[in-house]
Amino acid sequence: MERTFVMIKPDGVKRGLIGPIITRFEQKGFHLAAMKLMRIDRALAERHYGEHQDRPFFGELVDFLTSGQVCAMVWEGQNAVANTRAIIGATNPVQASPGTIRADFALDIASNIVHGSDSPESAQREIALFFDGAPALETMYRM
Ligand code: CMP
Repeated sequence: MERTFVMIKPDGVKRGLIGPIITRFEQKGFHLAAMKLMRIDRALAERHYGEHQDRPFFGELVDFLTSGQVCAMVWEGQNAVANTRAIIGATNPVQASPGTIRADFALDIASNIVHGSDSPESAQREIALFFDGAPALETMYRM
């Protein structure tokens, strides 16, 4: 059973899309292993998106992520990383397939509603970043 990290970004939280987004993952057959509504500071946003630090949009990305609450989640199930990315859709909503979260709810690449880990290694790193280490999950956040 694989785990992945999914984060509903401030635009998704502000627009009241937590419920519809969770529904899509549940309908697909995934189990919600952990969830918390939180504000992230610049240090956490910069660590989370460290691979993009040299990109021209990095500052804008960090500003956006720290502009409001996010909903951090851990989903588990078969091929969780690849399957959740398929549900989320392409990074740029213009290119996302109809029926995906980004195609159905988002208009532009900067505010694309949701983030999903791009590999099992990223998932492990991101879960540890947001949930203080994977072992804590079972005891502190298991629903
Ligand atoms: P995400 O999947 O969270 O991973 C990195 C994020 O950077 C991506 O979604 C986009 O929201 C953001 N991003 C990627 N390209 C651009 C861009 N050209 N301008 C602004 N933001 C971008």
